[in-house]
Amino acid sequence: MSEQNILLKVENLKMHFPAESTWFGKPTKFVKAVDGIDFQIESGKTFGLVGESGCGKTTAGKCVLRIYEPTEGSIYYQGTDISKITESQLKPYRRSIQLIFQDPYGSLDPRQSVGSIVREAVLADGKKKAEADVKARIEELLTLVELDPSMAGRYPHEMSGGQRQRLGIARALACEPKLIVCDEPVSALDVSIQAQIINLFESLQEKLGLTYLFIAHDLAVVRHIADTIAVMYLGHIVEMMDAGELYANPCHPYTKALLSAVPVTDYYTEQKRSRIVLEGEVPSPIHAPSGCPFHPRCRHAADLCKTQMPPLVDQGGGHFVACHNY
Ligand SMILES: Nc1ncnc2c1ncn2[C@@H]1O[C@H](COP(=O)(O)OP(=O)(O)O)[C@@H](O)[C@H]1O
Ligand SMILES: [Mg+2]
Repeated sequence: MSEQNILLKVENLKMHFPAESTWFGKPTKFVKAVDGIDFQIESGKTFGLVGESGCGKTTAGKCVLRIYEPTEGSIYYQGTDISKITESQLKPYRRSIQLIFQDPYGSLDPRQSVGSIVREAVLADGKKKAEADVKARIEELLTLVELDPSMAGRYPHEMSGGQRQRLGIARALACEPKLIVCDEPVSALDVSIQAQIINLFESLQEKLGLTYLFIAHDLAVVRHIADTIAVMYLGHIVEMMDAGELYANPCHPYTKALLSAVPVTDYYTEQKRSRIVLEGEVPSPIHAPSGCPFHPRCRHAADLCKTQMPPLVDQGGGHFVACHNY
């Protein structure tokens, strides 16, 4: 992988939120939502970020979008570190990195028609455009997300969840982004609709050369779409590898447990495999355990795991694992 093909490179990213403070406002405790993660995404590829709710996926995505200014670390977008630059310096990147989230309903103005929602996004760059071009662009965007252009006169509440998500995608595409942060974009949809939206993401990637940071709590969702997958636990990446390798050769005990909860389609495989039931709950990131964050729930935890954080090490061929037992 040449450096030139890397669209996004995240280094030692940390986002700590103040949780408790003294009476004069000095924070004494922090929620370490993201606590030192490294990854990179090749242009035109999909990077899947998975893990249970609360592990820091959305926070990591919001740092990439620079909704948050990270506590520490770097975010190189096309080679430029955008982690600390000012809002005016960020301007050229704002349109280039777009967000699609779980249910766009909350962000859609109920009084605005589908057409005018897309129109607003088309005009958002402030450039002067002829009315005929604007109309053509709206039609083009609706067609791209496989919504009938005749839907332009409808309102968000008249649409199904899947249609609304298509509208959310059309709105994001209006900015001609290169990178899209997809934060659990199908979690709120019925399983049958989920597959349609995933297929749409894939065909848009092919047509437009898009790069995705695809966030999901469900491994079954990312297994189809991601090229590379990182598994997060309590603000850390515990395993990262090619998507195929994840299913063939999971190494981290947490990944194994997550995988064992994903249904397989083959009946015989299903009979043979054993479920690993995770005991206990995900600890709060305010009271993160010492050493390996997973050790209180790990069946293989040794003394070292309780005191020392295992580094994320390449076990060969770009398969990274953070576990003392490897
Ligand atoms: N703005 C915030 N202020 C304080 N704590 C936050 C904030 N956003 C998220 N958190 C905390 O950070 C942790 C990670 O949250 P989040 O990134 O939303 O996880 P995920 O998207 O994986 O479910 C959670 O413990 C959450 O409560
Ligand atoms: Mg989230």
